[in-house]
Amino acid sequence: MSELNFTGKVVVITGAGGGLGREYALAYARRGAKVVVNDLGGSLAGFGGSSKAADVVVSEIEAFGGIAVANYDSVEYGEKIIKTAVENFGTIHVIINNAGILRDSSFKNLSEKDFKLVLEVHLNGAYKLTRAAWPYFKNQKFGRIVNTSSPAGLYGNYGQSNYALAKSALIGFGETLAKEGAKYNINANIIAPLAKSRMTEEIVPKDILERLGPEKVVPLVLFLTHETTKATNSIFEVAAGFYGQIRWERSSGELFRNDNSFTPEAILNRYEKIFEFEDKTFSPVTYPSGLNDYNTLYEKAKTLPPSDQGSEKISLK
Ligand code: NAI
Repeated sequence: MSELNFTGKVVVITGAGGGLGREYALAYARRGAKVVVNDLGGSLAGFGGSSKAADVVVSEIEAFGGIAVANYDSVEYGEKIIKTAVENFGTIHVIINNAGILRDSSFKNLSEKDFKLVLEVHLNGAYKLTRAAWPYFKNQKFGRIVNTSSPAGLYGNYGQSNYALAKSALIGFGETLAKEGAKYNINANIIAPLAKSRMTEEIVPKDILERLGPEKVVPLVLFLTHETTKATNSIFEVAAGFYGQIRWERSSGELFRNDNSFTPEAILNRYEKIFEFEDKTFSPVTYPSGLNDYNTLYEKAKTLPPSDQGSEKISLK
């Protein structure tokens, strides 16, 4: 099997001064990519800043003969990061939207400032960087994007309403980029990782943390962004050497007749069917991946005869 090489490719990784981003930067550079190591160098909560974090990673790359340049701008100014790529390396092929901070708090105590700042870095940062890279991707008919979501974005998590919102939004954003980018050979995927870093070292038990080496996330990200990879519009969970895809599953559901049965009582009467995920034979679950899936339902509805099934009055008590 030939090695997945990145020679000639220009890769931007945001938040690459530590944690997962640093691992990506080293791995891309080892495989021949020209890497823009972006990092603001602030604290986990987003306070302060220093050029040191990015500089250290660039030195590490140069020490083994790799090619890298540092950028210290906040992702909120994504266009400046792309400018660094273009000025140094001529274009941009791969972007990894990875930079992030935490401002955890119960929803009750969450300040508007902490709510907005987390969205600003994770979500607006990804938007700004992607928007600046997009014209290059489109013109050269090649681009690869990875958005970093989180289990919190998929499932929610206590104390992380701001973070979970940003992380789930990165999923819809990535799925839409994949759809719009398809005709230009722009692939976009989303990862929900779990890894040992300053983000998790205070909250994950030590014995588990030791299995969550960030280097175990790297192979998936490199695979997803290689020029030969077709994967796009997909969400992956990745942790501790496990790699799996997440998809939406729609219950068997119940199609109500085109009559007067559209009442809350009709829902109550048939909610078991609506919640049914097990009946795979008669009314199988489906795996929707876009708005087109609704056309199938609509066509089915048109073929059904009117009926008053489900319209009987049921006490809600
Ligand atoms: P980390 O804190 O080690 O790395 C994040 C990096 O982003 C830091 O080096 C930081 O200086 C940089 N950064 C923060 N704000 C920035 C800004 N405005 N502009 C540029 N750089 C900025 O954390 P880790 O774990 O490596 O996280 C990487 C990504 O993975 C984040 O998006 C995080 O939310 C996500 N993630 C991590 C998980 C984990 O288990 N470590 C779990 C789920 C998601």
